[in-house]
Amino acid sequence: MELRDLIIVTGGAGFIGSNFIIDWLQNETGKVVNLDKLTYAGNPKNLAALNGDSRYEFVHGDICDLELVPTLFQTHRPRAVVHFAAESHVDRSIQFPGEFVRTNVQGTLNLLQNALDYWSNLDASDRAQFRFLHVSTDEVYGSLQSEESPFTEITPYAPNSPYAASKAGSDHLVRAYHHTFGLPTLTTNCSNNYGPFQFPEKLIPLVFLNALEGRPIPVYGDGQNVRDWLYVLDHCAGIRTVLEKGEPGETYNIGGCNERKNLDIVEIICDTLDQICPSSVVGPRRNLITYVKDRPGHDRRYAIDASKIREQLGWSPSVVFEQGIQQTVRWYLDNMEWVNEVRSGAYQQWLQLNYKER
Ligand code: NAD
Ligand code: DAU
Repeated sequence: MELRDLIIVTGGAGFIGSNFIIDWLQNETGKVVNLDKLTYAGNPKNLAALNGDSRYEFVHGDICDLELVPTLFQTHRPRAVVHFAAESHVDRSIQFPGEFVRTNVQGTLNLLQNALDYWSNLDASDRAQFRFLHVSTDEVYGSLQSEESPFTEITPYAPNSPYAASKAGSDHLVRAYHHTFGLPTLTTNCSNNYGPFQFPEKLIPLVFLNALEGRPIPVYGDGQNVRDWLYVLDHCAGIRTVLEKGEPGETYNIGGCNERKNLDIVEIICDTLDQICPSSVVGPRRNLITYVKDRPGHDRRYAIDASKIREQLGWSPSVVFEQGIQQTVRWYLDNMEWVNEVRSGAYQQWLQLNYKER
């Protein structure tokens, strides 16, 4: 049996995965099968635009499932797997590290082993075509001092949070499956994404909502931590590029070359909202900024050196941050129904737990 023009995406109902699937179907041929467990972070409504699209199929399931995953490979005969599924929030990993090891490490292992079993039984030309692309993070490299050069693909791993450690573990397994068994893997390590469909536990949508509704905006520590922000569709384009042109066994850093202090991000969102929807009740939103107890082990600075993907594969970011953040704020304002739906009881419980002692 031959490979089909079909990819399996894991975690495609989350923030980046849903943007990726919509973007993929607009730019590529073939089908997408999306395997997602629908945790609190997964929302099928992110993909409502694809209702009735015969090129898209949703499978509700867990990447750790030892029976479902091999069946998916045999049924769909994918030409690639793009693996997003993960527990992704650092603060949650401080509260519940076990869930991160289960999904991020064991789940990735289960996918790799089943990809290997499937790939090993393909004929030579299909084996040469197949790819397993693992979506990872810059957090595996640890924290930079202000004067240090950005992370490259050969920066030693030094994960500091349970989330980062679990992603580092999954990256090492991907590396080992290539090195030991020859599985044609690709790994991308990307910086902080922002854009539509991001769950409002993460900095940018959380600040947007609190600022909109006139609630205190919690800034951890002194607000001087630095992140390198990339518009989500630029990340998706980077992944498509790596899948098409990347060398099996290689890793590629993806980043926006856009370092910003947290406080600057918060102020930009406050000012953007003041411009778009000024409120005499709330007043200037910057007044809502509230310094709270720091995140334990909070990494000071992340920055990506993306020269490898730029020079070898021809990818570079296209969205200027000031435009991207305006677009994002407008997207959230236009999609308050989506926002209100994801702010379920479980989300309210999380806010209580995370911010109660801050
Ligand atoms: P997210 O938390 O928004 O979405 C994760 C998705 O995975 C959800 O749909 C969830 O239901 C699904 N999922 C979780 N556990 C699962 C399991 N056991 N089986 C099947 N599905 C499961 O995450 P995101 O921000 O979209 O991140 C996606 C990937 O990109 C992650 O691997 C993350 O580490 C990586 N990444 C994220 C960023 C970022 O800024 N958000 C940056 C770099 C890399
Ligand atoms: O670098 C890539 C990573 O970016 C991804 O791998 C993760 O999945 C993603 O969640 C993100 O991790 P961060 O920890 O950088 O993102 P977060 O939005 O949680 O926080 C961004 C910064 O803002 C961080 O320095 C902590 C700070 N922060 C966050 C929250 C939620 C606050 O000051 N206040 C807050 O309430």
